Amino acid sequence: MIKNKDKKLNLGIVGGGAKSWIGHVHRIASRFDDQYQIVAGVFSRDTKLSIKFGVSIGISKDRCYSNFKEMADKESKRNDGINVVSIMTPPASHQIIAEAFIDKNINIISDKPFAGNIEQAKKLYKKIKSNKKIKYVLTHNYSAYPMVREAKMLVEKGKIGKIEYVNVEYVQDWSGGNTITTKNMKKELKWKIDKNIVGTSAVLNEIGTHAYHLATYISGLKGKSIFADIKQISKKIKMDDNAQVMINFANGAKGMLWTSVMARGGVYGLRVRVFGTKGSLEWVQNDPGYLRHNPAKGAVRLLERGFHNAEFSKNFSRIKFGHPEGYLDAFANIYKEFASSLKNKTKKRYFYPNEDEGFETAKFINACKISSKQKKWVKI
Ligand SMILES: NC(=O)c1ccc[n+]([C@@H]2O[C@H](COP(=O)([O-])OP(=O)(O)OC[C@H]3O[C@@H](n4cnc5c(N)ncnc54)[C@H](O)[C@@H]3O)[C@@H](O)[C@H]2O)c1
Repeated sequence: MIKNKDKKLNLGIVGGGAKSWIGHVHRIASRFDDQYQIVAGVFSRDTKLSIKFGVSIGISKDRCYSNFKEMADKESKRNDGINVVSIMTPPASHQIIAEAFIDKNINIISDKPFAGNIEQAKKLYKKIKSNKKIKYVLTHNYSAYPMVREAKMLVEKGKIGKIEYVNVEYVQDWSGGNTITTKNMKKELKWKIDKNIVGTSAVLNEIGTHAYHLATYISGLKGKSIFADIKQISKKIKMDDNAQVMINFANGAKGMLWTSVMARGGVYGLRVRVFGTKGSLEWVQNDPGYLRHNPAKGAVRLLERGFHNAEFSKNFSRIKFGHPEGYLDAFANIYKEFASSLKNKTKKRYFYPNEDEGFETAKFINACKISSKQKKWVKI
């Protein structure tokens, strides 16, 4: 619990160095609502690069560390040490890094996946649950779009009835327009082809996890069992690049998930549809300010972020309807809610993804690997 609610939270960063993909997104998201100040970090495994980058973004040299253990140790001993650490390193390192900070009672913001594999996920989940002094949030950022939350609320209020089907797809194209071969794979795909770094499955750990989380987040349903077919479309390299998964939800609803990183021209194709006894909802990431509501009877309704027909979404919007908001804003919603939950002991409900949701995604991915190998239904 943070004592001085008027002060910004001291934030430390692990990963997200100069050339990283997601680093600047986290930094911008943390600054959106003036709730955090970035005061410490380790931005690379190379000490020189880490310090050079840290200093370039305004961190004092003595708080640019050589490794995460040193950072956790030294920051926990300072009076003005970090309250929160943001972890944005590749997947298989999330668990070990998070644990070092949990041991020092430092709150965690982690990028997905929850952990690299199921063994890591179990350990991390146990560790989080065993320390009542810390809070944990997972940046499944798509769940923080205003119209995704509007959808979640409509489902909770029973506006589409009892959920019967969920259909979600998240497809990308990692080829960059090239044919990936053994020659160019390292340049094009970097650590994503290394199982020791990407974890259980490249496609499922990198984007399938978002799709599964989104399906369960909006529908409020828990996955019960799955049948997965993980096939490699590209024959030239060894990497899970495509997965089709049938899902049985605990309430009897059925689900279908398709995720691919080699869907040519599939530029951030994230789409979710939830069908209930009274109608359906559809949200597409490329047009995030709108939610399509198809009642079983009557005209289709297009709900707009921040508008009078989507009241709940106003809680997560920063600018007026009609003006576009997007990816950075949704990411910032997670940072904003987490700051509020650290500073306030109220019973207020927060909508950010936590360790329970993270552990569910890890169990899902593990079940998919087993199912695909054994060609049978597997319990999650
Ligand atoms: N939520 C999202 O929308 C989203 C989008 C992209 C990536 N991600 C996730 O973010 C994570 C990072 O992905 P990326 O694409 O930015 O990777 P990246 O390779 O572009 O960047 C990784 C950064 O971490 C640093 N790093 C690696 N190991 C480190 C360590 N032990 N200590 C300190 N720094 C270290 C590297 O130097 C680099 O700067 C992954 O888990 C990925 O799944 C999430």
